[in-house]
Amino acid sequence: MSNDLDDTLKQLVGEAKRAVGEAGDERALDDVRVRYLGKKGELTALLKSLGQLAPEDRPAAGARINAAKDELQDAIGARRQHLSREQMARALEAEQVDVTLPGRRDAGGGLHPVTQALLRMEDIFVGAGYSVVTGPEVENDYYNFEALNIPAHHPARAMHDTFYFADGTLLRTHTSPSQVHTMEREEPPIRVICPGRVYRRDSDLTHSPMFQQLEGLVIDRGISFADLKGTVIEFLQRFFEKELSVRFRPSYFPFTEPSAEVDVQCVQCLGEGCRVCSHTGWLEVMGCGVVHPNVLEMSGIDSETYSGFAFGMGIDRLAMLLYEVDDLRLFYDNDLRFLRQFN
Ligand code: PHE
Repeated sequence: MSNDLDDTLKQLVGEAKRAVGEAGDERALDDVRVRYLGKKGELTALLKSLGQLAPEDRPAAGARINAAKDELQDAIGARRQHLSREQMARALEAEQVDVTLPGRRDAGGGLHPVTQALLRMEDIFVGAGYSVVTGPEVENDYYNFEALNIPAHHPARAMHDTFYFADGTLLRTHTSPSQVHTMEREEPPIRVICPGRVYRRDSDLTHSPMFQQLEGLVIDRGISFADLKGTVIEFLQRFFEKELSVRFRPSYFPFTEPSAEVDVQCVQCLGEGCRVCSHTGWLEVMGCGVVHPNVLEMSGIDSETYSGFAFGMGIDRLAMLLYEVDDLRLFYDNDLRFLRQFN
């Protein structure tokens, strides 16, 4: 009998230990424990069968079964420790941090170069007492044309290549409508700049269907072309931070008389002649003139008492010249490699 029991125990413990060794995780290990040591486990069953033995055999048999139980329990405990160490090692491996690596920096954003150019312009004019005025991008015919002395069928409309909507409204082709709104709203003296997006059906190396303009308007008693000249020259020299020569060429705009186009000495070659200035030594940068009396009168300003000047320039174009960018479209492609250069 005692040999039988020994054999059974040996076989059971051997089998159980093999199962313990094969248990790959806590769950499997616990299953093994339940199978042999649980309430309905195989070793437990052996203990329960002790009652069938002769009373004098029970203590020895019980001691042997208990020893087998202890042995198995030790094996399970050792396996559990092994598994948990293994799991810890795996976690350390997977989650390891190399504290000597350089940190990941926040990718700091930056202002778009056209915005930077705009802020630079605003700074100069605000410093000279101008206020910044903005207006809607969708306008009607009156504000974009009529009130600026461009009646229907006026040939100047052809220059503007306008986007129209079905209801007769349009995308403003310049920010001059903001100046009309200002003149309707305010009494002179008026000193404003009007930056904003404008739209024309035009697209090539130097033209984009949407671009940004900054126009200015000054109205007061006794304002003359000389005030305009001084303002424009001072502005351009501050903007480019160079003592550049500036020249005024007679031109035509329906809303100003006299009108001029302004050239600045090429910022690249300083007048020598280069690719940027098409070998002329000059860059065309803005249109300007003395506000036409019709324009003042239409907005309710007495042209006998007041006079004024206005100017308008492309912010994109001046940004191109300032930052030496030779394709306008780069400003609107949103290629970060390009934009990061301006941070
Ligand atoms: N509004 C003109 C344009 O967009 C620019 C301009 C403004 C010219 C003021 C003269 C005076 O073409």
